[in-house]
Order: sequence, then C-alpha cells, then structure tokens
Amino acid sequence: MDLQRMKAKHPSDSLTIMTELVLPNDTNNLNNLFGGQLLSWMDRCSAIAAHRHSKTIVVTASVNNVSFKKSIPQGTILTMEAKVSRAFTSSMEIYVDVFTESDDETHERVKSNEAMYTFVAVDSKGKSCPVPPIIPVTEEDKIRFDGALRRRQLALILSGKMEPSEATELRALFVED
Ligand SMILES: CC(C)(COP(=O)(O)OP(=O)(O)OC[C@H]1O[C@@H](n2cnc3c(N)ncnc32)[C@H](O)[C@@H]1OP(=O)(O)O)[C@@H](O)C(=O)NCCC(=O)NCCS
Repeated sequence: MDLQRMKAKHPSDSLTIMTELVLPNDTNNLNNLFGGQLLSWMDRCSAIAAHRHSKTIVVTASVNNVSFKKSIPQGTILTMEAKVSRAFTSSMEIYVDVFTESDDETHERVKSNEAMYTFVAVDSKGKSCPVPPIIPVTEEDKIRFDGALRRRQLALILSGKMEPSEATELRALFVED
C-alpha cells in the first residue's frame, strides 16, 4: 500500500471551486437553471474533490441529499465549492455548497443550494480501494464529519445494502435506548 497516499488529510486539502454562467442551453421553460444541469455540475465538482483526496479513479455511488431551495435565473454566475467531509474505507462523502452572484452592480453572493454526494475510489478494474482518513478542522468540518455517518447509513439502507437494524447512528436520532 502507498503509505504517502494514505496519510490523513483535512477537508480543505480537497477544496474544489468551479464557476459557471447560466446560459440559455442550461435552462428550463421558465428560463431558470434546469435541475439536471446543476446535478451534473455538482457531480463533476465533487468528482474532482474526491480525486484530490484519494488520488485514485473515483465513481459516483449515490447522491445523499440535494435541495433546490430557490430558482436560479438565466445569466446568474454560480459558484460550487466541494470538499470531502468524511472518508470511510473506500467511500467518501463530498459536501457541495452552491452560491449565486447577482448580475446587478451589487454582485451579492448568496448560498442557493447544497448537496452531498458519495464517491467510491476504484482501481483500473473498477474494484473499490482504500482512501485516506479525514481529520476535520473547523467547527463546520466537525458538524459535517459527524453527520456523514448518518447519511451513509441512510444511503446504504435505501440502496438495500444495510439492514435498518444495523443503522445504529440513524436509529439514535429517533429512538431513545
Ligand atoms: C460504487 C461501486 C464501486 C460499489 O461497488 P460494490 O460492489 O458495492 O463495492 P463494495 O461492496 O466494495 O463497496 C464499496 C464502498 O461503496 C459503498 N457503497 C456502495 N453502494 C453505495 C451507495 N448506494 N451509497 C453509498 N455508498 C455505497 C460501500 O458502503 C463501500 O464503502 P466503504 O468501503 O467505505 O465501506 C459500484 O456499485 C459501481 O461501480 N457503481 C457504478 C458507479 C458509476 O458508474 N457511477 C456513475 C453513474 S452514471
């Protein structure tokens, strides 16, 4: 195993920032950004963050959560910031924050969306392989690190890869033992 590659990293080590301009081709019939286009941009931004963390080929395993809080009109400048929030054995949660910049003179930056993706590190044959651990640094890093375990359990239950009875972290949210 490449020990140097497996050294623990901070979320900021994988920070990936992508900026896009919403053009007519990216919009729906109301001239707002088409949701599928945003998912694709966030997936690409997350894949780069996952690669920066793992230094391997990475594939999308699941989209754990995504919310479209308000519409994003044509002409908006949109910035995505993705970081690895937690790494497990071969999988990583990537947290993406999306900000819009108004096209008036204020250029006000507003958070419009967030999403969490799970990527898996794989070798050249597509077999999963280990990734370095994450050490959270900031308060926000720590909150996201803790929440990632619940989101992982939920994703695995929904994909039929975990029994609800095994999801201890998730269960603790709802049931007092
Ligand atoms: C993702 C993939 C590699 C997992 O394969 P697998 O046979 O389940 O592999 P493993 O059992 O070794 O699991 C690997 C990891 O994936 C995680 N995983 C698998 N399915 C998952 C899901 N739906 N959500 C979250 N994590 C998942 C497992 O928990 C495991 O994590 P860990 O190693 O950190 O504990 C495989 O399903 C795949 O290649 N899928 C297609 C990926 C792809 O093409 N994406 C683009 C879609 S267009």
